[in-house]
Amino acid sequence: MLIRIPSSAEVATSEITSPRALERFNARRSLLKAGSGSAAFATGAGWLANAQAQTIMQAPSTSTGAKLAAKTSPFSTPEKATPYKDVTTYNNFYEFGLEKDDPSKNAGALKTRPWTIAVEGQVNKPRSFDIEELLKLAPLEERIYRMRCVEGWSMVIPWIGIAMSELIKRVEPNGNAKYVEFITLADNKQMPGLRSSVLQWPYTEALRLDEAMHPLTILGLGLYGEVMPNANGAPARLVVPWKYGFKSGKSIVKIRLTEKQPITSWNRAAPHEYGFYSNVNPQVDHPRWSQATERRIGEDGFLQKKRPTLMLNGYADQVASLYSGMDLKKFF
Ligand code: MTE
Repeated sequence: MLIRIPSSAEVATSEITSPRALERFNARRSLLKAGSGSAAFATGAGWLANAQAQTIMQAPSTSTGAKLAAKTSPFSTPEKATPYKDVTTYNNFYEFGLEKDDPSKNAGALKTRPWTIAVEGQVNKPRSFDIEELLKLAPLEERIYRMRCVEGWSMVIPWIGIAMSELIKRVEPNGNAKYVEFITLADNKQMPGLRSSVLQWPYTEALRLDEAMHPLTILGLGLYGEVMPNANGAPARLVVPWKYGFKSGKSIVKIRLTEKQPITSWNRAAPHEYGFYSNVNPQVDHPRWSQATERRIGEDGFLQKKRPTLMLNGYADQVASLYSGMDLKKFF
């Protein structure tokens, strides 16, 4: 199932890791197939006003059914949102398998209540936040963002969430805090993909503190007007729209502020291919494929004309200043 022939526009999931790791993974692979979530229609919030009501009619089997009201945001793109079905069934969430449809098939039973996120490290007020508290911590906002995967595909997703800064400022970072590490759930009982050695678990990612505090960075709590589907990283995930999608860890259980730059999952697995920054940059090719263009999921299948990838995924006006003086080719 992992072996398929990608078009030049798309890189197979299996190619983003080393062949040796994949061999090991294939040898051990024995993924459980569980049911997916309940069937219901998404009814959405502000994204309706975005003239994309057609996407609402695609009765998603992955729908959580639980609605979230959110205010619109000036940070949202007016681009057409990727259909709900694609957003929730074409996923990367290796804890549930390597195929794009594995998370929607296998993550349905993930227990997302009760759920807490511990925030600790270089802070004056370390503490845990219950998911119900996070949902009320700040007014929920809808952020319609482009998402560019390092594999060469992209989506436009109407996320719902709160600014990550709202969470971080409550624990009061101290003078030593320079980075923020995001540690995600690794539960053998619930996550069949953990049997693989494709990555070292738990999946961890990290940002510089100023990146985490940037207004575009959100703690994603939902999408398309409802609580986060399990396949997309329920109940809370990172969303950093100017970086490749793998920076956005799903199902976060711990956030740690650190003085030293943390080691991250993909950087550890393949340091020459996945840097710490991983900013979307069409001028820096992946060692094994070009990053100049991308395929927009949900648009005309494999025959579609690829669109050019934008510097910092089109968010350069907002975030380029974070990297002034840095060589973005060196700091990939
Ligand atoms: N988070 C965890 N915990 N496990 C993963 O495998 N995959 C990453 C990222 N976050 C991943 C993860 C990758 S490679 C991408 S492209 C995005 O999640 C995909 O998010 P989506 O499936 O919601 O589009």
